[in-house]
Amino acid sequence: MNIIVTGGAGFIGGNFCHYMTNKYPEDNILCIDKLTYAGNMETLEPIMDKPNFRFFKADIADRNAIYKIFEEEKPDIVVNFAAESHVDRSISDPEIFLRTNIIGTSVMLDACRKYGIKRYHQVSTDEVYGDLPLDRTDLFFTEETPIHTSSPYSASKASADLLVQAYARTYKMPCTISRCSNNYGPYHFPEKLIPLIIANALNDKEIPVYGKGENVRDWLYVEDHCIAIDKIIRDGKEGEVYNIGGHNEKTNLEVVKTVLSLLDKSEDLIHYVTDRPGHDMRYAIDPTKIHNDLGWLPATPFKEGIRKTIDWYLNHREWWENIISGEYQNYYDKMYGNRG
Ligand code: NAD
Ligand code: DAU
Repeated sequence: MNIIVTGGAGFIGGNFCHYMTNKYPEDNILCIDKLTYAGNMETLEPIMDKPNFRFFKADIADRNAIYKIFEEEKPDIVVNFAAESHVDRSISDPEIFLRTNIIGTSVMLDACRKYGIKRYHQVSTDEVYGDLPLDRTDLFFTEETPIHTSSPYSASKASADLLVQAYARTYKMPCTISRCSNNYGPYHFPEKLIPLIIANALNDKEIPVYGKGENVRDWLYVEDHCIAIDKIIRDGKEGEVYNIGGHNEKTNLEVVKTVLSLLDKSEDLIHYVTDRPGHDMRYAIDPTKIHNDLGWLPATPFKEGIRKTIDWYLNHREWWENIISGEYQNYYDKMYGNRG
């Protein structure tokens, strides 16, 4: 089978390309990535020479480029990870989120419609459901929870989901959608909370904690997300949405303190800064459907996953030091410089 993976030079798409090329030597994994600030060829370096992997530098919103790839490669399955993914950046500059996440998705869907595919899978997020209150720990996001977005990022991802559902119904396209909670693991770009804590702590830099650090996220080890998507594209039912989550809720402060303790660093590094505007309080996924229908459950406990993640960052300093020494530094100064 020919499987197109968009956004494969990013965090989760990169982990997915590693997972799929290793697990299915008989399938061809065709990665499309624009290589934005978040795309990194070093993430793909370990699989670049594999006979079942190829890389195409292209923008998913560039219709001609995408159609050309489809015409030449005749994909059977498309998994769309490519997106602008950072909430803070969407608050400062929403437009590119609309172009990539909405227009880009529509171009991918049109290409699938024009050339025909067996399955289009949209990698979505639990953020499309908005947030849950901190004092209602009995509430979880199910696939029936109404869409109720907070940030330009989540609004753009929800728009993409609606387009996928419209194409599935109107054009009878074989589509599935997954909505996952926060991932962590190797190759995570250091603008996001967990790799930012690790990189700053290793450099004895302050850890910026938004607000009081009480917000809750449901952390899932990235490989478990890859396994879930693999199950959905093979055995998931067309037209269905699947929630993916770790049953692993933690406040941001708990996460920061855990990482500091594992790195043997002082909690004095914690620095409370002005909150993110519109900051979602709590995400919590109910993964009953994917468990019952596809037999998926998260396999990596947080204790083990966070240890593995920290070890990876310790053993791959060059990967993240190259990032934080470049253009990223300007972003960091702009985002955190006057935040106080
Ligand atoms: P990321 O920012 O690390 O990677 C995104 C990748 O997409 C990069 O390689 C980038 O170069 C590429 N890209 C961006 N715009 C593109 C375009 N126009 N054309 C082609 N490629 C483009 O993101 P991530 O954290 O790996 O997230 C991947 C997907 O998973 C996203 O769709 C995101 O919404 C979703 N998701 C992420 C999480 C999470 O915790 N990180 C959780 C749930 C869902
Ligand atoms: O839930 C899935 C989503 O998880 C994905 O759709 C997004 O692409 C992904 O980026 C992630 O979004 P979050 O906003 O939850 O992740 P982030 O790592 O940016 O922040 C996690 C929490 O930590 C959030 O409550 C904000 C807080 N935070 C973040 C940063 C970067 C801080 O307190 N300080 C920081 O410096």
